[in-house]
Amino acid sequence: MSLRAEDVHRSFDHPSGAVHVLRGVDLAVEPGELVTLSGPSGSGKSALITLLCGFDQPDRGTVAVCGRSLATPPAWRLCAVLPQALGLSGELTLAENIALPLRLDPERRGEPVADAVAGLMAELGIDGLGDRYPAEVSFGQQQRTALARAVIAGPKVLLADEPTAHLDHHSAPAAVRVLRRAADAGSAVLIATHHDLVHEAADRTLVLEAGRISVE
Ligand SMILES: Nc1ncnc2c1ncn2[C@@H]1O[C@H](COP(=O)(O)OP(=O)(O)OP(=O)(O)O)[C@@H](O)[C@H]1O
Ligand SMILES: [Mg+2]
Repeated sequence: MSLRAEDVHRSFDHPSGAVHVLRGVDLAVEPGELVTLSGPSGSGKSALITLLCGFDQPDRGTVAVCGRSLATPPAWRLCAVLPQALGLSGELTLAENIALPLRLDPERRGEPVADAVAGLMAELGIDGLGDRYPAEVSFGQQQRTALARAVIAGPKVLLADEPTAHLDHHSAPAAVRVLRRAADAGSAVLIATHHDLVHEAADRTLVLEAGRISVE
């Protein structure tokens, strides 16, 4: 099992009262599976993705990646994420952002990365932008950069939060193909999405509602 959550609870304090967003979430994603996560806006999809990649901790319950409980965010080769807010480094070019997971991996630091970066950029329709900084490209181009960064190291677990939210009908299919290929290569892929195009590429869909997961 690559990704597992058991009885995950998470509340957020707020002056108007605590918001109990996740109320006992259980899920599991196997290697090679592409699973989509749907649910109304505000249902907690992003909160859950943030917990699954170790950026946040549950109040109760456990999250495990490849059998290891998450106390801190795991290395990107284990678990890579495309957050809803993208999280690109503004001081690195698009090509440098995409190459980062390979550069940060001590076992792969010396590998040539230019061809892999160029190949992903071309496939996603952002070729020619490698030397630009995130502030110099559109939000959709930033989103495709964050997707390329998430897949480049072939992570065991790949999490993507609304990866096609800013893409048009021309660029979204390429993004979906890249995500599907990651699953076909053996990653366990979980994608929060509202897009039918992504659901159509999925092996199954989970629905988050009232703090719990149900199967569609
Ligand atoms: N830090 C926080 N403090 C207080 N409330 C929060 C915090 N983070 C999230 N929430 C609340 O948790 C709920 C879930 O938010 P989340 O962003 O996970 O929803 P979502 O399902 O991803 O929605 P969307 O489809 O719009 O992206 C919302 O009601 C939100 O207001
Ligand atoms: Mg969200």
